[in-house]
Amino acid sequence: MARPNTRYVCQACGASHPKWGGKCDACGEWNSLVEEAAPESAPKGLGRAGGRRIDFVDLKGVTEQAPRRMTGITEFDRVCGGGLVPGSALLIGGDPGIGKSTLLLQAVCRLAGSMRCAYVSGEEAIDQVRLRAARLGLRSAPVALAAATSVRDIVASLDAGDAPDVCVIDSIQTMYVDTLDSAPGTVAQVRASAQELIRVSKRRGIVLLLVGHVTKEGTIAGPRVLEHMVDTVLYFEGERGHQFRIMRAVKNRFGPTDEIGVFEMTDTGLTEVSNPSELFLAERRGDVSGACVFAGVEGTRPVLVEIQALVAPSSLGTPRRAVVGWDNGRLAMVLAVLEARCGVAIGANDVYLNVAGGLRIGEPAADLAVAAALVSSLTGEPVPADTVVFGEIGLSGEIRAVSQTDLRLKEAAKLGFAKSLMPPRRGRAGAKGDQGIRQVELAHLEDLLPLFQETTPAPRGRT
Ligand code: TYD
Ligand code: MG
Repeated sequence: MARPNTRYVCQACGASHPKWGGKCDACGEWNSLVEEAAPESAPKGLGRAGGRRIDFVDLKGVTEQAPRRMTGITEFDRVCGGGLVPGSALLIGGDPGIGKSTLLLQAVCRLAGSMRCAYVSGEEAIDQVRLRAARLGLRSAPVALAAATSVRDIVASLDAGDAPDVCVIDSIQTMYVDTLDSAPGTVAQVRASAQELIRVSKRRGIVLLLVGHVTKEGTIAGPRVLEHMVDTVLYFEGERGHQFRIMRAVKNRFGPTDEIGVFEMTDTGLTEVSNPSELFLAERRGDVSGACVFAGVEGTRPVLVEIQALVAPSSLGTPRRAVVGWDNGRLAMVLAVLEARCGVAIGANDVYLNVAGGLRIGEPAADLAVAAALVSSLTGEPVPADTVVFGEIGLSGEIRAVSQTDLRLKEAAKLGFAKSLMPPRRGRAGAKGDQGIRQVELAHLEDLLPLFQETTPAPRGRT
């Protein structure tokens, strides 16, 4: 009797094993192997005969660039790199309930005025989508709506004469290809479904927007393979308790990946936040110790955000370090530099660090702001409310220059800040004061400490 032709595929990383096991050897995940039918036969060597010769062409040639499709939701268009490229496939990932379906419904309704749009829901019934559209005030938008999960049917519809220009698939984990035996949501199904849908959308020039679920570990469920197949991967993130939602490009074949789009979830759907700094600073309470405003840059946009630190005596043998919105390792580094280079003893204390508003900062430029918040909390001396801080800290305690200094200063001045603690600007002595803000240049982290010993100036109101 022939051996059953099956293999065991890890649902976390997509690795394939000949035998079942409790743990995937490739990624170390437990209980993730699922039996799947193996492909009919292994590919054989091609030999010499049969292939058609490919015509190679020059890199220069003329390529018609179809215009990008703007959704009119500026924050979304910017994260996409300036609108949607015809024939491209986008993957939008995010936790359940974060607002992926809401955002995409709003986007296609906006687009529907100028082009044909389709919304295929595999999770919600037609009535549920209609109810949501009614709540968003978008009921009259001419969007073609369908509830379907069979990729065969969807591909047939997309390939028909009146194909849409933009198609949303909500979500790729609910789709299935009927030639595979495995259940929807498994790696094999997700991969095959995405492949079929992407193939037809490339052929017909359809913008394909795929919704992908995020696993509890934070990667798009099942397959990293999906990230390789699409042109753009966007993550939609936000803290549960906050209304802010941040859209971030992780991969983009047609634009930069460091842009963010900021939205606010309201009872009438997602609204754009065109000035995030004002939002992130809205709940700030002037002169309190342990808080400091960081002048950051996300992509091409300056974002001012409050960094809060709490240094408290620890009752534990190993003091606690808790960080929200910043990198744990960088906090450890800033603490070590403060201790070793400046003699500030924080080691035996618990340290809590929080970036207010639910934003995640990745820039090293936040080092100095974190150090200022830490020292301020330790000494009980507030950072003046009219001051912004930015700069990278090196291991010897030197403050290093960061990019986009002018942009940071300009935004701070616009929001009424009067002073900035920042790295030295080499060769730019003449340019000082040009941003309408007093620039205090710090060469070494030690230079920060005297600022917390002098008497603090009276708080200045924001202009
Ligand atoms: P949804 O788009 O269904 O999330 P996802 O598709 O990412 O799972 O968003 C659902 C959440 O958004 C839900 O918790 C309710 C909230 N919401 C509002 O606050 N206002 C609205 O107008 C809508 C439509 C949803
Ligand atoms: Mg949804």
